[in-house]
Amino acid sequence: MEKYISVKELEDAALEKLPKNARDYYKSGATDEHTLAENRRSFQRLRILPRCLVGVEKFNLGTKVLGYEVSMPVGISPSAMQRMAHPDGELANVKAAQAERVIYTLSTIATSSIEEVAEAAPDAIKWFQLYIYNDREVTRELVTRAEKAGFKAIVLTVDTPLFGLRRADVRNKFTLPSHLKLANFEGHLSTKIHATGNGSGLNEYVNNLFDKSLTWKDIKWLKSITKLPIVAKGILRGDDAVKAVEAGCSGILVSNHGARQLDGVPTTIEALPEIVEAVKNYNVEVYLDGGVMTGTDVYKALALGAKMVFVGRPALWGLAVGGQAGVQKMLSIFRTELEYTLQIAGTPIVADITKDMVRHEFTYSKL
Ligand code: LAC
Repeated sequence: MEKYISVKELEDAALEKLPKNARDYYKSGATDEHTLAENRRSFQRLRILPRCLVGVEKFNLGTKVLGYEVSMPVGISPSAMQRMAHPDGELANVKAAQAERVIYTLSTIATSSIEEVAEAAPDAIKWFQLYIYNDREVTRELVTRAEKAGFKAIVLTVDTPLFGLRRADVRNKFTLPSHLKLANFEGHLSTKIHATGNGSGLNEYVNNLFDKSLTWKDIKWLKSITKLPIVAKGILRGDDAVKAVEAGCSGILVSNHGARQLDGVPTTIEALPEIVEAVKNYNVEVYLDGGVMTGTDVYKALALGAKMVFVGRPALWGLAVGGQAGVQKMLSIFRTELEYTLQIAGTPIVADITKDMVRHEFTYSKL
């Protein structure tokens, strides 16, 4: 693992190593993939303004999320079917999160079960990402199992009335390799990820089984079946953020679903300030994922008001390259880059990273 010193290098190595079906699934965005590219690019349009001579000998990356201490403001976003990346899949990923003391979010559509993940990393802070199935009993059972297994939050994905159109998956007629199954389910719900028509097998599965009628009212139902805090994932508008909080959510994950849902939406760092502003008078935490590749990206999101940043694909790249060690490598790259950034920017603790630490490049455009 020593030879990798950037997340980009892990990504390049992973893309070379992964079989086509999995590689295309993980890397794709919706349709023309403009937002996919912009998610990364828009971080580069922000500039960091270091403060000099502030004394940074006591720097610390630690922070608290929903009341839990984490070693740095970087956590792992949900991503589906991780055993396509590495035989140990979700178990390697959660063990890496445990070792690095960061949050791990398990996908509903995982290839390891809630219980297996809990057993593999009992001390990790684990969140469970939820898709609401048409069959509410199926959904209720997932939530109950996650709560019982010690997961600390439900991350409800709110941007997916149906899955985005990802052309490579259509072309490949995406199918879950036959030795794998969706481990949170039994029977047809666990194995039905194969294309029978002309498109992606995953879209077929989702479009048949997920509840398309969901509205903000359903958060009430979700709250009635769990005591866990709810994080609404996939919000890009200030008014939706307010609706989420008023419906009882404790966290807002500003996300465009890795640019996999709708091409042309704002990037997450673009959407963040409006959302932070909209909920500033509420008791809610705001997070961000999407396009985060470096410690300075994380820093910029924190400056614009994110409490924490999540990474999805970088964990998959680490996983593909080296299982648990690869994910730990990815996290340690972020840690090192953040340690440098906090100190050189003159903001030795996370709470010091205020809005004035960044400026948009347009501020300089008259020069
Ligand atoms: C995706 C789902 C699983 O983006 O969230 O493919």
